[in-house]
Amino acid sequence: MSEKHPAADLQPTLRDYESRALALLSADRSAYFFGGAADQQTLAANQKAFSELELLPRVLRDLRGGSTRLTLLGESLTHPILVAPVAYQKLVHPDGEAAMAMGAAAQDAAMVLSSQSSIDAAEVRAASPGCNWFQLYWGPSRDANRALVQRVADLGFAAIVLTVDAPVQGARDNEARTGFQLPPDIAAVNLADMPAAQFAPLAPSESILFDRVAHITPRWSEVEWLCRNSPLPVIVKGVVHPADARQAIDAGAGAIIVSNHGGRTLDTMPATIRLLPAVAKAVDGAVPVLMDGGIRRGTDVLKALALGATAVLAGRLPVAGLTVAGAAGVSHVLRLLRDELEIAMMLTGCASLEQITPDIIYRNE
Ligand code: FNR
Ligand code: LAC
Repeated sequence: MSEKHPAADLQPTLRDYESRALALLSADRSAYFFGGAADQQTLAANQKAFSELELLPRVLRDLRGGSTRLTLLGESLTHPILVAPVAYQKLVHPDGEAAMAMGAAAQDAAMVLSSQSSIDAAEVRAASPGCNWFQLYWGPSRDANRALVQRVADLGFAAIVLTVDAPVQGARDNEARTGFQLPPDIAAVNLADMPAAQFAPLAPSESILFDRVAHITPRWSEVEWLCRNSPLPVIVKGVVHPADARQAIDAGAGAIIVSNHGGRTLDTMPATIRLLPAVAKAVDGAVPVLMDGGIRRGTDVLKALALGATAVLAGRLPVAGLTVAGAAGVSHVLRLLRDELEIAMMLTGCASLEQITPDIIYRNE
């Protein structure tokens, strides 16, 4: 057995955070935050597909004056790494989304607050104005959706991220096996005024999903309505088909996020990095295309940008930072990811995000 270096616990690397988080969390919370749906094929594919892409560097380029800056929906960002919406963050750290927002702000990272945040949106904004996009799951009442969107607009949020890939939860076998349940003191506090769906008793001939749930799940008409009635730009998250991307733009979306929900919804979907190029081609620059799923390294960010993403979101990586060390852990994880992106840019000869083009991806032909 090799001996552990005495300093091994002092300076976690990007790779160490997830294993440390898993060691700290109970089995059920580990399953909820770090597991995926069913056989977890998509969860694994997201990372595997990134590792299978190889990089082909250019050398001796002029890198002076380089940066990772970009403009996204009129906002100037220091780098293209955003914190993805993740529900119920108080389950991994007592300061939950407030600590996540502080850690993100320390690295100038934009953050998307989940509508299933365990802390009120006003409190998270007070912790850090860097948390400025709000994620929405369409609720059954238009008025209640409108009121929620207006509330977050009044709080200073700058965009709504409408998640469309989860009309129903995926098959969460791992959560079931470990008995995952929300404790009584943790809830989706921002949705307290949303009317709860009422379900009458089910006859054996009825389907809970088709007969009861399907009439309250959103359709394209709801996306159009929201884009027309929202005071904030609407970003549609969870689009993977090029035709859906076009339809989202026609509906009025200000941006698109190519996502398979981190492998938590429909298992056996391909990795998002494999789906991104066709969506980017269909969108053809009409709106920004973002992506998430499997971002664990700066080289992953570089590869996503090379294949057409304007920016990326990271979900489980900042959650691992939050679990291990609260706001400081989030900040450290994001710092490492930013540094790795800059290292990878320099080593591939890219001085700006515009210079990250598909030809840095090696094609064996
Ligand atoms: C999520 N995700 C998510 N997405 C969303 O739109 N609203 C939500 O409330 C949540 N909640 C949530 C909880 C947990 C525990 C996870 C891991 C993920 C999906 C998230 O925004 C993002 O799409 C993925 O996490 C990206 O994949 P990686 O970065 O985790 O690999
Ligand atoms: C999830 C929901 C909250 O992925 O989006 O668990």
